[in-house]
Amino acid sequence: MDREPEPELMNKKSQVKAYCAADFSLGEENLIKFISNYLDINNIKLTRNDLILDLGCGPGNISEKLSERWPDVNVLGIDGSQEMIREAESRMFKNKIMNKYRNLNYLCSDIRKISSLKNFSRNEITLLVSNSFIHHINDIDNFFKFIITLSNKETINFHKDLIRPKDEETALKLKDKCSQKYSAILTNDYYASLKASYRKNEVQKKILDLNLNSMNVVEESEEYLIVYGKV
Ligand SMILES: C[S@@+](CC[C@H](N)C(=O)[O-])C[C@H]1O[C@@H](n2cnc3c(N)ncnc32)[C@H](O)[C@@H]1O
Repeated sequence: MDREPEPELMNKKSQVKAYCAADFSLGEENLIKFISNYLDINNIKLTRNDLILDLGCGPGNISEKLSERWPDVNVLGIDGSQEMIREAESRMFKNKIMNKYRNLNYLCSDIRKISSLKNFSRNEITLLVSNSFIHHINDIDNFFKFIITLSNKETINFHKDLIRPKDEETALKLKDKCSQKYSAILTNDYYASLKASYRKNEVQKKILDLNLNSMNVVEESEEYLIVYGKV
């Protein structure tokens, strides 16, 4: 199945509402565990001087989990959609009253304008994380351009995303499974995302072309891959 790009930003109110109503917590927890294990195995301890950046943070599903897992580390979620950031901030402010997410902040900004982002310096970024973000980027070259621009030589990248199914039949089966649990809007978005996603070999080829010898890509399952390491 050939790749069919989808719009980068999720700006529509109905789309954001449908996304926020869904429960993706299992996959999100798995990404947090993957990051934790990597840090443990490499004996890396995060401190209050570190910064975790969550690219394409949406309503904050991953940013919140990062903030809870590393409460002493600053976490910054970035998304170009005002609707998404409005949701994320509303959730964060409600919880800050209960002393949660004190280390968490959000920024509404399009990653394509990365060179003009002034809210942080790349020297500060210890972990560069994203979930369900890569497939929104129209060209895989741009995804790597973004993470190379944002990373310093110590920054560790963790990017999890869907894998494009091998054929239309498999995509339709996954779409049907999604429709049994979620709304029509979310199901259609998920189907579009499946078709916009990259495959392991496409990501691997880019890693080789760019000589990113410390980057790896693994298939977490038939549906998800994780790109990780230093650029
Ligand atoms: C499928 S959502 C994932 C949200 C979140 N990471 C999660 O795991 O729930 C993808 C998000 O990436 C954002 N996005 C896509 N392209 C972007 C860009 N160029 N700059 C900033 N955000 C972008 C979209 O607006 C959307 O909120």
